[in-house]
Amino acid sequence: MIDPFGRSISYIRVSVTDRCDFRCVYCMAEDMTFLPKSDLLTLEELDRLCGAFVRKGVRKIRLTGGEPLVRRNLMSLVRNLSRHLHTGALEELTLTTNGSQLAKYAGELAAAGVKRINVSVDTLDPVKFEAITRGGKLPTVKEGLAAAKAAGLAIKINTVALKGVNDGEFDALLEWCGREGLDMTLIETMPMGEVDHHRADRYLSLAEARRTLAKSWTLEDIAHRTGGPARYTLVKETGRKLGFITPLSHNFCESCNRVRVTCTGMLYMCLGQDDSADLRAPLRATESDELLDAAIEAAIRRKPKGHDFVIERAAPAVQRHMSVTGG
Ligand code: 5AD
Ligand code: SF4
Repeated sequence: MIDPFGRSISYIRVSVTDRCDFRCVYCMAEDMTFLPKSDLLTLEELDRLCGAFVRKGVRKIRLTGGEPLVRRNLMSLVRNLSRHLHTGALEELTLTTNGSQLAKYAGELAAAGVKRINVSVDTLDPVKFEAITRGGKLPTVKEGLAAAKAAGLAIKINTVALKGVNDGEFDALLEWCGREGLDMTLIETMPMGEVDHHRADRYLSLAEARRTLAKSWTLEDIAHRTGGPARYTLVKETGRKLGFITPLSHNFCESCNRVRVTCTGMLYMCLGQDDSADLRAPLRATESDELLDAAIEAAIRRKPKGHDFVIERAAPAVQRHMSVTGG
């Protein structure tokens, strides 16, 4: 699949639920209305949808949410999708999680062929952690990380940079990642969906964070690219990678290789635009995949050039929360 700007689309992110057992302050409002369960695609439909993308050349699938591991019976979807790993059609099946259920599922994920996962940790202070996530327990997440390591999963920690909240902790987080054998990515807060504060108040440019980190660590730019927004460095002292996701201070759209599907079957061609295509109707219309394939192709032909994120604007750039498309 090639979009109008010559970018090859080889990566889909699939949000399997909009629900989450956390309510991170930058992600959700305290009081969220979730989709009625009847609106969701079944796990069988999600599998069929992923299969259609794989046939069209998608090489990498990331399951996200919300929190993917709170979707009931998610492991059956993971096991079904792993058949594409066995045939070689799919290069990678991976997951972004908040870690709260990892202790339970790490072994099964690894057994199904998942090799790497991303886990969100914004602070190492358990009290602050509970405040940022509105109720999450850091020790539970740490148990999950230990289980994931024991299962042989490679782990990348996602940390959203929040001015005045965790910006004093980046050194400690980097040191912890080094000690624990984890890669880390710092993420700028993105204006997606209404939350209970004005995001500009918490926005921290990662150019600034990097300058501060460079006082204590040797950060060497490396070529490692995932086709996404992250730019990676190697931390000489620890041998681990540190990435920077800077959608606001540095635009990355020219190399975008991905699209996103929600748990109701809406295809979003760009994280920072509202345009979407309904794949649920063509999926449910017939048992053959012709309509579905045509809908996917038509949507890719409309993939926009880039996002519209501007942090200073009063209103979010897009109405939906990150939990709808999972980042
Ligand atoms: N801006 C930036 N990152 C966000 N995340 C969730 N909401 C936002 C937002 N508005 C992060 C989560 C997770 C990753 C998928 O996206 O912390 O690590
Ligand atoms: Fe849940 Fe992730 Fe959003 Fe936090 S950032 S509320 S863990 S979906």
